[in-house]
Amino acid sequence: MKRRAQWERRVQLAAHPVAYPLLRAVARCGPVVRVPGVGVVVNDAATAREILLDGETFRKDGPGSPGELWTPVLGPSVLLNMEGPAHRELRSKLTGLFTPGYAERLCDDVLAGPLERLADRLRGGAAVDVADEMRVMAGAVICAVIGLEAGGEAAYRHMFAQGEKIVSMVSLRTRRLSTAQAARARKVLDPIGAIAARAYASGDESTVMGRMRTLGLSESEARGAAGAFFLTGTETVATLVPRLIALLHDTGRLGDVAADPGRLLDPSIDEAMRVTTPTPVMLRSVHKRARVGGVTVEPGDRVLIATHNCCRSFGPFDPDRPPPDLRRLWFGAGPHFCLGYPLAMAEIRVVVRTLLAAAPLKIVRRRPARGVLIPAYRSVELRRVVGAKTP
Ligand code: HEM
Repeated sequence: MKRRAQWERRVQLAAHPVAYPLLRAVARCGPVVRVPGVGVVVNDAATAREILLDGETFRKDGPGSPGELWTPVLGPSVLLNMEGPAHRELRSKLTGLFTPGYAERLCDDVLAGPLERLADRLRGGAAVDVADEMRVMAGAVICAVIGLEAGGEAAYRHMFAQGEKIVSMVSLRTRRLSTAQAARARKVLDPIGAIAARAYASGDESTVMGRMRTLGLSESEARGAAGAFFLTGTETVATLVPRLIALLHDTGRLGDVAADPGRLLDPSIDEAMRVTTPTPVMLRSVHKRARVGGVTVEPGDRVLIATHNCCRSFGPFDPDRPPPDLRRLWFGAGPHFCLGYPLAMAEIRVVVRTLLAAAPLKIVRRRPARGVLIPAYRSVELRRVVGAKTP
């Protein structure tokens, strides 16, 4: 029990040596706590859901909101900085974009080659760095999403590193990017927008950008969506898989899940998401006076939903007990619920199934990543246990 908590804690502390202990200490101060310099911190899942469902009072497009952070680089209409009718209209056009079936086919197609090579190496007894593999695979999927056709490992790595470059400009306290940072972020995002626009123009309905055109998005909406997918859908998925593998390994559950993935894989993914919360906080800006969890909030206040605290209050990783009723709060709730949820799940499932098919596996070495926004392992070396029969 102790060992399993230790590694996750080390991963969190390597990313946020000061902020993580503070965030966890705030969780002990009550369900909703005003923290000077940070905002109103929400540690309780039910209160978080109430806030996320009330898009009139708690918005993503005011001072201290994610809009303030991302609008200067992504433009004004990219879902994650929108509210009200305009947001509803764009979301409704995008409802059919990442259906589970389409997301599965996309991941199967894009990852078939990399996964085959990965499986071969594991079966041959090599140590495989799951964190590094995931950076390449998440890069490959995002290249396909934005419509970059000429791929290959170098291109995938480059794409992943470009995303990291932007995300690393943000800390838990960042309210807006400096002019220089915004310029650097635009330098990365403009070529991505251009690639997306070309894929949109070609209108191939088998591609994500082509589908957006069919769904009625304008070119500039599709361009903006590509930027939003790139920022939200790359590191989140890439960092989850090594953490899930490590949690299963450290709790002695890798073998069980490998033996019955049909029954045990999805609950294990959900439980790993709950304790790791790849998006550790969600931000909102208060537009109307309101009371939340006994605290009065005023227009202009910044609300920081500590998703990590909300989800961790249900205890450490334990896929054996009935799951707490969180309705996947780690993907958000209400109108901004993660649009890429089916894609994230498809990507995670196909990679983890491949890894588990080579069980029994052992982590031989690992290292947490330092100074990153999304806590992560820099490396997790996984090796097939010597003497095991080839499956
Ligand atoms: C493990 C993986 C992921 C996690 C944990 C995650 C988590 C989240 C969360 C918590 C939100 C809501 C934020 C809020 O309300 O403030 C969100 C929104 C969003 N996510 Fe994800 N996400 C993941 C993967 C993806 C992927 C793969 C994509 C697409 C390629 C994606 C695209 C989006 C978009 C576009 C939004 C904004 C939706 C809107 O504002 O209407 N996400 N995600």
